[in-house]
Amino acid sequence: MKLACDDVGSGPVVVLLHGFPLDRTLWTPLVDALRSTHRLIVPDLRGHGRSGLPEDGTSSIDGMAHDVLETLNALDIREPVVVGGLSMGGYVALSLALHHPDRLSALMLFDTRSDPDTPEIAQRREVLAEAVEGAGSIEPVIAAMLPQLFSPITRAQHPDRIERIREVMAAQTPRHVAATLRGLAVRPGRTEELPSLAVPTLFLFGRDDEITPPSVGRAMAKRVAGSTFVEVPDAGHLAPIENPEAVRSAVHHFLNSLPD
Ligand code: MLT
Repeated sequence: MKLACDDVGSGPVVVLLHGFPLDRTLWTPLVDALRSTHRLIVPDLRGHGRSGLPEDGTSSIDGMAHDVLETLNALDIREPVVVGGLSMGGYVALSLALHHPDRLSALMLFDTRSDPDTPEIAQRREVLAEAVEGAGSIEPVIAAMLPQLFSPITRAQHPDRIERIREVMAAQTPRHVAATLRGLAVRPGRTEELPSLAVPTLFLFGRDDEITPPSVGRAMAKRVAGSTFVEVPDAGHLAPIENPEAVRSAVHHFLNSLPD
């Protein structure tokens, strides 16, 4: 399915994929930093923001990756593009990179992982999905996730950013959130496939990320020949909004290093 998305700027195409249960506005600071030099395609992934679910009401990481391709095709973007994804968006970016390597020129993985859910985490997601359906509200997910998302500095100095993320989460549709939780729980592991990535790859992890700590990113980066690993200070799981300057600088540096 074609996704609701922003299409701004001009130049080489960069696609940015948000995390769960957020929307494209996660990327606003990075989009503002890149739009004078790049064309940014920034979708709401299925079941998030203004993008609905397919008719069968289900979600999956590979389905999301397919939607991104369909969206690029609908925009007649056929050349290889840079794809960046944060956490769930990183799962989607990895799916694209591994299944459609001809469509990517480079990969940026923010605060994400390549391992599948453990049975305990998958079970926790099912409990949360049932709680969301039972309450008819995404509040159980907000209560479970929000305390883990941010660095101490963000909590102390930028409560406005935390409030904004709470609002984005609260605006999501409970039925879509439950479907996404179930899709996340059955996503395949990709760790063994990491060495087959053949595009320049940037790993970017918040130093205080409790959900996907930098050690997770370093272990992934070790499996990808020639990749770059950057640890972002003063950032937790949502580095692009917690320390936008450091993210912008690392991404600029990476994009400038790519062959024309
Ligand atoms: C996210 O930020 O997208 C989530 O932490 C992903 C997940 O729950 O696996």
